Amino acid sequence: MKPNSATIRKRYDRIAPYFEGMEAVMEGLFFKSWRKKLWAKVEGHHVLEVGVGTGKNFDYYPKDARITAVDFSEQMLKYAAQKRDRKNINVDLELMDIQSLCFADNSFDTVICSFVFCSVPSAVKGLKEVYRVCKPGGQVLLLEHVVSSNPVLAAIMSLINPVVVRLVGANINRNTVKNVKACAFTSVHVDKRSSHIIKLIEARK
Ligand SMILES: C[S@@+](CC[C@H](N)C(=O)[O-])C[C@H]1O[C@@H](n2cnc3c(N)ncnc32)[C@H](O)[C@@H]1O
Repeated sequence: MKPNSATIRKRYDRIAPYFEGMEAVMEGLFFKSWRKKLWAKVEGHHVLEVGVGTGKNFDYYPKDARITAVDFSEQMLKYAAQKRDRKNINVDLELMDIQSLCFADNSFDTVICSFVFCSVPSAVKGLKEVYRVCKPGGQVLLLEHVVSSNPVLAAIMSLINPVVVRLVGANINRNTVKNVKACAFTSVHVDKRSSHIIKLIEARK
């Protein structure tokens, strides 16, 4: 049986104190430069970050934007709030599930996230919600790790996926590009610099 939202939320609550330490090496080697590329694409004034985690994207927030950031893990948000206060970041943090966002339709110029749809329990439901709250003509930007296009690696990723989900709450075998393309976006573009596992996806409503 697939873990439900409460289970995944608890897993992030549990790893929140160690989250940045766990990702430190990958962050330095890869994620940092991807975050820069992702946030360089933000358009418009009103921005929503979904799955903010501990606030690892704060350093890349555009200075003049009005940003709201949500997460469903109270503990991850607690660390994000501490970082916001320490770094004096201008962001509204809210406890919220991406699968049922409490925002009106067509609210944001850009909806953005990094490494989130690997763990949203129903990725399709979550993507429909980010589509709903994005303004017509606005964009949804996603930086995601996905199942490899190499069939051998993909099989290994699927085999060990249940263990990874159990430990950290994230799936390593999702096809997020396909899931985004299944939504009603007018265009979906994958940045050419993407690798076979890390994808920078730009979807236009
Ligand atoms: C791997 S962490 C990434 C955090 C951050 N975006 C980053 O780049 O470091 C995934 C985050 O997504 C959040 N998340 C997963 N599913 C969610 C949902 N349905 N609603 C809100 N947040 C969710 C988790 O609580 C966690 O903080």
